[in-house]
Amino acid sequence: QPKYRKDYKPTPYLIEHVHLDFLLNEDKSTVKSKLHMTPNYGDASTPPKLELDGRKDIDLVSVSVNGSALADKDYERTDKKLSISNLPKGSFDLEITVGIKPQENTSLEGLYKSGGNFCTQCEAEGFRGITYFLDRPDVMSKYTTRIEADAKSYPVLLGNGNLLEQGCASEGRHYALWEDPFPKPCYLFALVAGDLALSEDVFKTMSGRDVTLRIYTEAKDIDRVSWAMESLKQAMKWDEETFGLEYDLDLFNIVAVSDFNMGAMENKSLNIFNSRLVIASPSTSTDLDYSRVEGVVAHEYFHNWTGNRVTCRDWFQLTLKEGLTVFRDQEFSSDMNSRPVKRIDDVSRLRTAQFTEDAGSMAHPIRPDSYIKMDNFYTLTVYEKGAEIVRLYRTLLGKDGFRKGMDLYFKRHDGQAVTCDDFRNAMADANDKDLSSFAAWYGQAGTPQVKVSPSYDASARTLTLKVSQNIPATPGQSQKEPVPIPLAVGLLAADGSDMPLHLQGEAGESGTTKVLLVEKASQEFVFTEVAEKPVLSALRDFSAPVKLQVEGQTDEELAFLLGHDSDPFCRWEAGQTLLRALLTKLYNAAKQQKESKLEDRLAAAGGVPETVSDAMGALLTSKELDGMFIAAGISLPAAAELIGSIPNIDPLLLHNVRKYVVQQLAARLRPQLEAVVKQNESAAGDTFVPGDFDQAAKRALKNKALGYLSALDDPRVSADLLERARSATNMTDQIAAVAGLCDSDCPERKTALEEFYKQWKDDSLVMLKWIGLQAGANVPGNLKNVEKLMEHPAFSITNPNACYSLFLSFLRSSVNFHAADGSGYKFIGDSVLKVDKINRQVAARIVSSSAFTALKDYDPERAQMMREQLSRISAENGLSENVFEIVSKSLES
Ligand code: ARG
Ligand code: ZN
Repeated sequence: QPKYRKDYKPTPYLIEHVHLDFLLNEDKSTVKSKLHMTPNYGDASTPPKLELDGRKDIDLVSVSVNGSALADKDYERTDKKLSISNLPKGSFDLEITVGIKPQENTSLEGLYKSGGNFCTQCEAEGFRGITYFLDRPDVMSKYTTRIEADAKSYPVLLGNGNLLEQGCASEGRHYALWEDPFPKPCYLFALVAGDLALSEDVFKTMSGRDVTLRIYTEAKDIDRVSWAMESLKQAMKWDEETFGLEYDLDLFNIVAVSDFNMGAMENKSLNIFNSRLVIASPSTSTDLDYSRVEGVVAHEYFHNWTGNRVTCRDWFQLTLKEGLTVFRDQEFSSDMNSRPVKRIDDVSRLRTAQFTEDAGSMAHPIRPDSYIKMDNFYTLTVYEKGAEIVRLYRTLLGKDGFRKGMDLYFKRHDGQAVTCDDFRNAMADANDKDLSSFAAWYGQAGTPQVKVSPSYDASARTLTLKVSQNIPATPGQSQKEPVPIPLAVGLLAADGSDMPLHLQGEAGESGTTKVLLVEKASQEFVFTEVAEKPVLSALRDFSAPVKLQVEGQTDEELAFLLGHDSDPFCRWEAGQTLLRALLTKLYNAAKQQKESKLEDRLAAAGGVPETVSDAMGALLTSKELDGMFIAAGISLPAAAELIGSIPNIDPLLLHNVRKYVVQQLAARLRPQLEAVVKQNESAAGDTFVPGDFDQAAKRALKNKALGYLSALDDPRVSADLLERARSATNMTDQIAAVAGLCDSDCPERKTALEEFYKQWKDDSLVMLKWIGLQAGANVPGNLKNVEKLMEHPAFSITNPNACYSLFLSFLRSSVNFHAADGSGYKFIGDSVLKVDKINRQVAARIVSSSAFTALKDYDPERAQMMREQLSRISAENGLSENVFEIVSKSLES
């Protein structure tokens, strides 16, 4: 039952205009639709069948064409379709009335209830749960929507576009009529009816229009939306300044709901958000929460142009709007905060999560070739790797060239549903460049591995770089072609400065960073006039989403780059490479001789050498770097960055090796760490300023240092952390203190968690953190606590956020998820089955985030136990297609 990209065909009918009439009730709601259909089948003499998408739980009340009810023989219903035949020639009006029960809809797709309010989520294919329709993005229509509901329970009635009219209806009910002047696919349709508080502001656009901005939440949260509002205004301004893109209506609404499968949704002028991405206050939100709110508010706003005005022809093209919009929100956040830190965060995420996906059973190109459930393809690959591919154009064409490409893209395609090729062509044509070779990035899964071997010829004063690339096989793709890779490089002189670059075959100097375009499986580049033997700085700013290996690079060179590289990304990366190599070496040593105590084995293998601890110490005490950068620099690479590069990994052993390295570094750098904590303590009376980078940087560094110290298992540290948890004046510091206690068995752990609960039990968003901390803890035997947590009033299995906090955190606990007896795997197997009966998207997200999709990377015993869980899940009666797709692909791999 998979759908294939190659099977795309235009639809035989289009829908020019849609009028929807919602009668919302507690038992059954009625949806009447009036569709003005137009033929799109050319000059066929008999009109073809019209096949509308739907779901079997829709109760079909009536269908009529041009005002007359259809005879039984003229239509046919299956679980997923309503087919209508004997249609008139030319255009016609189709009227359909259905009944649905939003209050029973626990999948949170289509129309459902959250916190007593009605809301919708239609992307990708949720609209077909509301009524029968051509539920595909290349059907773009103008909508009017009438919403009617009880006036007391649902005082607020929101739809897309402009409010045309509102008033009373019979029996204490009222209605609102909305009109959206821009044609859109049905996935951008939205409706909200509820009892909501609102916060309002105005934005003056560059052409001088006033846009009303409204954020709606439950009344208790409305005093915590100012950061989201601020971010929205910044995003609107940034898009005008950066891309010349102005908002196109007079009203922009954001609604926060607490039950939402994903982050947020860009419905035209009525964005609906997971409340955790709107609501923020210093005492309840961390600095990370603040930056997520900023980034996601901007992301959804940016979709108004990249997604809504220009949309996707079919769902295989999803990265057209998501990769591009992620790129845009990354750039926005970089401009609002620290560009290097943002880049490092994004690359870390790509490497830990997307590279893992690219190497696992669900690996797919950024433009997939097939899917069973589209919802399974809202992935890190489509989003984050997709954004990296957009970034390639920017790297290659420069800022101005990229802008020209964007301008041409909108000029050509405003109001259309298009493909990734259309985007690439706009970039190419606007810059008079042939970018056809970039198509390979859209079609091939897997992370390219790039090897660079530098060799210096002192007498000729040349540096030759031999560069080769290889893309590993992925499911269904055994043969790969080379992809074009912009490789940004620099050369450092012995004093740490950048050397001027002269590339052989090119006239003149090319500055101090040169972007080499690697297009073949192997290639050579020669730099001339290289006065001394340089240290190579490669893949500057992470110029392509690849795994880089520089041959012959020594620890000393890495420490040198960490100390001197002018490219902040490469500077950070040098430290990470040093740490990855150390972890790998220690892991392999520990693996070999299993007799003695782990600590002795690691010490015998050289432990943590001084090159590494000195480099980390120098970074820690650097006066020139900001705290956020230093915190990132002294962070150990995540386990996920090593899994896959070490065959048959034992995740528990890796965990213990990491812990050893952290402890060694903490013990050796203790005085510096303690000094850093002191220097970065917030002064009494300091007020928290949202978005203040310096404050946040201080907190980041202080808490990173405390994290190291907490690894020492020193009672004085635990007592200090408990005190900090009690006296913290902001959530960043409070959660860091509690987290520092969570992985140890100390008595303060229990106290801190209990006190935290008492303080925050009435705040469901803070409770998500409390659940997450406990579920992810690495104290042995924690599974029974996690099982108890599922019975706790703070947890609700019908709430996606609660599920993500509990299950996804548990998946990150190497000790408990990967417990040698398989109990962690069984728990996840059970939980997936349980959740699947309630919410298939959440269940699918749990399996796809788990190591079950990468089982071949693990030791044979664990791989076998994972396989058993997958088989058990796949044998379940009534399993959703969502979970089925992931489980079956994982079993095949
Ligand atoms: N388009 C939304 C965004 O801004 C996400 C929609 C996700 N839908 C889904 N079925 N997972 O990224
Ligand atoms: Zn998006």
